[in-house]
Amino acid sequence: MRGSLLIHRRGVQRIRQLAISAIGSVKIKILLCCCIAFTLLALATRAASFMGWADHAVSLDRFSKPRKGYTILMNTWKRYDLLKQSISHYSSCGRLESIHIVWSEPNPPSDSLKEFLNHAAQLNSRGRQKIDLRFDINEEDSLNNRFKEIKDLKTDSVFSIDDDIIFPCSTVELAFDVWQSAPDAMVGFVPRIHWVDKSKGNGEHFIYGGWWSVWWTGTYSMVLSKAAFFHRKYLSLYTNEMPASIKEYVSRNRNCEDIAMSFLVANATGAPPIWVKGKIFEIGSTGISSLGGHNEKRTQCVNRFVDEFGRMPLVSTSVKAVDSRSAWFW
Ligand SMILES: *[C@@H]1O[C@H](CO)[C@@H](O)[C@H](O)[C@H]1NC(C)=O
Repeated sequence: MRGSLLIHRRGVQRIRQLAISAIGSVKIKILLCCCIAFTLLALATRAASFMGWADHAVSLDRFSKPRKGYTILMNTWKRYDLLKQSISHYSSCGRLESIHIVWSEPNPPSDSLKEFLNHAAQLNSRGRQKIDLRFDINEEDSLNNRFKEIKDLKTDSVFSIDDDIIFPCSTVELAFDVWQSAPDAMVGFVPRIHWVDKSKGNGEHFIYGGWWSVWWTGTYSMVLSKAAFFHRKYLSLYTNEMPASIKEYVSRNRNCEDIAMSFLVANATGAPPIWVKGKIFEIGSTGISSLGGHNEKRTQCVNRFVDEFGRMPLVSTSVKAVDSRSAWFW
């Protein structure tokens, strides 16, 4: 009696095991099918956008009248090949209306450089309104020059960009769309973060966090002006309202003008900036921001500016704007 019960139990156990492994293999198969289906879907989407269907099918221009464009404000320093390359590229972007080159070199731009750039701007703007290209010549060499007020600016929107960074036009357009939805905000591609330094007592001391910090936490409180849209009113604010001590500090240390601008905008709006996802191509040699030791100086700037403003104006967020046509799920 005992023996047969034992055998019976073993049999039941065996059946159970078989059933479990069968369920397991069905799950794996479903998973595999899903993987294959998604891969095919991804390839199809890629192919569609490669052939140019997707972009035409869902072109936003069809739904709205032509809107006013933006101005490129490009900071440059003795790297004429990079300048030529980036101006040639951006001139081909739709909705670009004018280009201002911030010039702080002791010698004015040469005629051949001017000629090349004007030619590039006109060549690429074919079929559209002519792109206006201008040099804003500064006598003094200071980082504050990049935010000097421009009285006769043609557009409300300014795209501030370094001469050694290239974004595809579609990426620039996306950021411009985002800016149009939030014209008081800074809208950019290079996010940075600050946080309270808990090791230094009273919560009044801050640390500047670079790319890794943003990547790790998914949070940011600044977008750097080396690639950002903002309203032209902030150029006037920077020039006329920014405390002289901060401008002096920026000029003397040759650093942190971008943090200063982030403080200014955050102080005026009480809101965080907006990070836009985009492809970045750096065409020059590496910038200093990727090296170590750099964050020390940036941390000093943040704390210095907090003292000057009398409070920490920066606001953190984890919002990121993406092009929904290239996003997988919604
Ligand atoms: C910061 O904001 C305050 C309150 O709106 C304002 O009074 C002050 O002038 C602003 N500071 C700067 C430097 O813009």
